[in-house]
Amino acid sequence: MIDFKVCQAKCIKCGQCVSDCPARIIAMEDGNPFITEEKEALCYKCQHCLSVCPTASISILGYDPQNSLPLTGTLPDSVQMELLIKGRRAVRHYMPENLEPEIMKQLLDVACYAPTGRNSRQVRFTVVDDRATLTGIRDEMMAKLVKISHETGFPEGMEFFATYVRQWEEEGIDFVFRGAPHFIIVSAPKNVVTPVEDCLIALTTFELYAQALGVGTVWDGLAKWLISELMPEFKARLGIPEDHVFGYAMAFGKPAVHYSRTTQHEPAGVHFVR
Ligand SMILES: Cc1cc2nc3c(=O)[nH]c(=O)nc-3n(C[C@H](O)[C@H](O)[C@H](O)COP(=O)(O)O)c2cc1C
Repeated sequence: MIDFKVCQAKCIKCGQCVSDCPARIIAMEDGNPFITEEKEALCYKCQHCLSVCPTASISILGYDPQNSLPLTGTLPDSVQMELLIKGRRAVRHYMPENLEPEIMKQLLDVACYAPTGRNSRQVRFTVVDDRATLTGIRDEMMAKLVKISHETGFPEGMEFFATYVRQWEEEGIDFVFRGAPHFIIVSAPKNVVTPVEDCLIALTTFELYAQALGVGTVWDGLAKWLISELMPEFKARLGIPEDHVFGYAMAFGKPAVHYSRTTQHEPAGVHFVR
């Protein structure tokens, strides 16, 4: 079922696959790692065995270790990471053009490496990859918002939308998608162990990698609010499965603004327990 294979010619019998397996299902017999059939169902499918093996002897789930990226000291250093984290900005001005399809693919292919609770890996990215499509969706949403604003008014706690709607009507200000060409919603099945957390971690990973690629992003609480509360019919319209939790949303595209320096914050609120 999980296709755990060890290349005996390459295995140096170091036992790292045994000690690093979080499910503790790899055993050693005469120095040879193996998983019994009855323990296979307990496998997290995390591939730590494939990843930790120093001699690329282990294959699992049909993956050839030779196709993994080698981890040989080429990670970004702490200075680069600090700049990425501190230099990330909520981008609210975008170039008109779509992202190149290769960049879009790269972003999604990498973001899906974010961790998920019990390695459920069922996060789904619902993506609008073309500005014309997003413009159509935005115009539909705005028409509904204008109707609500003029006919019934907004429910309690959402009255502030009236000001935004006025800005849209008078100045054409797109307060929902901030003029971005693309939009992503991250969702996960309600029945996985940590659906909301999985979605937020995936989108955080997506955002940081996007900004490293020169792609601007903005977390889109207004869109989430609109879709979750005021226009739930858009969940089906956008193809979000009914049994999924709507994790969060983000607008993104090529930025039309350049930030010259980081912001500055007060030190972290930290409580050391001693
Ligand atoms: C959960 C969340 C929801 C947000 N929703 C919106 C939004 O709907 N529209 C918007 O323009 N910015 C939104 N933002 C962006 C924040 O306003 C922004 O992160 C904050 O002002 C700090 O700016 P910075 O991200 O550039 O550091 C959101 C951010 C987060 C984390």
